[in-house]
Amino acid sequence: MIPQRMIDEVRQGTDIIDIVSDYVKLNPSGRHYKALSPFTQEKTPSFIVSPDKQIYKCFSSGKGGNVFSFVMEMEKVTFPEAVELLAKRAGIDVSKYTDTAARQEEKREDSRHETLRWAARLFNTTLESDAGKKAYAYLSANRGLEAGTIRKFGLGYAPDSWDFLLNAAAKEKIPVEHLTELGLLTRHRLKESLYDTLRHRVIFPIMTIGGQVTGFGGRTLSSDPETPKYINSPESAIFEKSKLLYGMHAAKEAIRKQETAILVEGYMDVIALHQAGFSNAVASCGTSLTRYQAKILKRYTSRVLFLYDGDNAGKKSMFAGIDILLSEGLTPWVVMLPGAEDPDSFIRTRGKEEFENVLESEKSSFQDFQIRCYRDAGYMESPDLASKAVSAMTKSISLIADPVQKELYIEELSKKLDISRKTLTKVMASGGAEQRHPREPMSGKNEEAPAAPPVQNTPLSVSERTFLEALLESTFYGNEVLAFAASHDQMLRLSNHPAQAIFTHLVSRYRTISGDKEAHIDIAAEISSIELPQARDLALDILFRLPVSETSRPNPTETAQHARRCLSHFLIAVKTIVLEPLQKEKAALLSKLSGTPEKSEEKTLFTRLHELNNQIRTMDQEVTGSINTILEA
Ligand code: CTP
Ligand code: MN
Repeated sequence: MIPQRMIDEVRQGTDIIDIVSDYVKLNPSGRHYKALSPFTQEKTPSFIVSPDKQIYKCFSSGKGGNVFSFVMEMEKVTFPEAVELLAKRAGIDVSKYTDTAARQEEKREDSRHETLRWAARLFNTTLESDAGKKAYAYLSANRGLEAGTIRKFGLGYAPDSWDFLLNAAAKEKIPVEHLTELGLLTRHRLKESLYDTLRHRVIFPIMTIGGQVTGFGGRTLSSDPETPKYINSPESAIFEKSKLLYGMHAAKEAIRKQETAILVEGYMDVIALHQAGFSNAVASCGTSLTRYQAKILKRYTSRVLFLYDGDNAGKKSMFAGIDILLSEGLTPWVVMLPGAEDPDSFIRTRGKEEFENVLESEKSSFQDFQIRCYRDAGYMESPDLASKAVSAMTKSISLIADPVQKELYIEELSKKLDISRKTLTKVMASGGAEQRHPREPMSGKNEEAPAAPPVQNTPLSVSERTFLEALLESTFYGNEVLAFAASHDQMLRLSNHPAQAIFTHLVSRYRTISGDKEAHIDIAAEISSIELPQARDLALDILFRLPVSETSRPNPTETAQHARRCLSHFLIAVKTIVLEPLQKEKAALLSKLSGTPEKSEEKTLFTRLHELNNQIRTMDQEVTGSINTILEA
């Protein structure tokens, strides 16, 4: 069990907009944000996030919730894991809440990140120290990097030594096993001793999207052809090269703003582009683009500009990357740099103005790029090769989900190759058998468990809805309504089960905080703690429809007005809810009496009627009395 205080602290330290933005691209829409639902494949955005209420709802799948349920859904983690993840992200030290054995594993992971951070810092200070002079000169003189750029990317230097890191770790009591696990130390096969993996190399720390060091790339400074140019951290649970994009943490904002990501091949390309002002550049680190990387990009933009090396390997990677982007719903663009330049060398030798010109003049659609490559390679000259090229190009088009775009690309292709649309469509259809709709690695979840059988209860009545609306909304403005509800909870029986569950939950939560004047219920956090799923859904649904609160601009007068409004709505609903069942019973009795009951039965009916009348009167007086006192207060 996670203590509620911890849940609250994490919820309040987190902004749902910030978290959701890491997964989908949000567009402002009135007081909400809209996006394509990350839970379904859809073309019109039905995913709404409310910054005021800190909740979201996907209107196509019906899924909704708070920041915790969002992370649970997206990361396929349990509630406690989601809380922990978000705590970490918000920089909240939760050890005060949960320092138990269960946290051992987590601690280990934390300290591995700690070790990574330590190593990055060490390499960086070394670069800026005497020991790093040569490396620094290489970066600034040969590679044209400014001091600010070196700092921004946290570049470092691993000296030409077998035991530099090893000794530093011993001095700082850094666990050697961590360094071995992280690949920073290598075990000598015969001597059973450890030595530094990265020697005489410029170090590029690789960060997560959130900016945590997760691995390293090291470029050699040696001219020995036997030495590999790059050594990267080995694959591990912490470092999965295929699932990250180098520079993403520094580029994500620019990508979002400019609505385009520039995709390059290498570390140096990213750095040179950022230095030249193109801070929307990221690298796939030498490998060709993976689906996972495409999904990361898609959270921020739908347009990706390939700027790979102009050599054959680069072209091949772009070809593969184009299909991946298309099938993930992104639009690829391509810029071919002249000669054997890569973006870094181009900018260095020709300057950023010329680079910008090339970006403009050489930018082509993925289709033009494909046609050009096939033409250059002589495919269009012989019918059998041309046929292969055409079928590959229609295959790319078939990956596009949007039917209009699909049609437009077919039309383009038809014009450019002078092949009829009909034929192209036929070719596309014949390749259609292999048209895949890959299961998304990020949502490779089990089918949802069948819904629990519906509990026997009555549908939510109008007054129950009003009651809940007022109760939930009131939590934004204070505890007055909750206080009343808690002191009258015995007489309040909601016949709709989910409604009752919400009510019971909030009352019991209120009791735990009522000693503390300052404490208030965070309704967005509370949703996670309501146990009955139907109750959770109902609460969310009501919360979503509530008039927008003013929580983002607290204003005491307005708050008081809102509080008052909630309270009076609530009290009116309470009165109906309390009296309604009695009134109903009374009506039933009267109708029985108006028939012709037997004498003995008539007597019991009258007795009950009498009781009921009394009950109704006292209840009415009691509730009205309470209402008057509280409204006059
Ligand atoms: N790469 C790698 N391992 C290698 C070679 C390359 O991880 N053995 C990755 C690196 O991320 C590198 C990118 O592929 O940045 C592109 O490789 P390459 O074009 O060979 O290097 P550059 O980045 O151009 O490096 P430099 O300009 O310093 O030669
Ligand atoms: Mn290069």
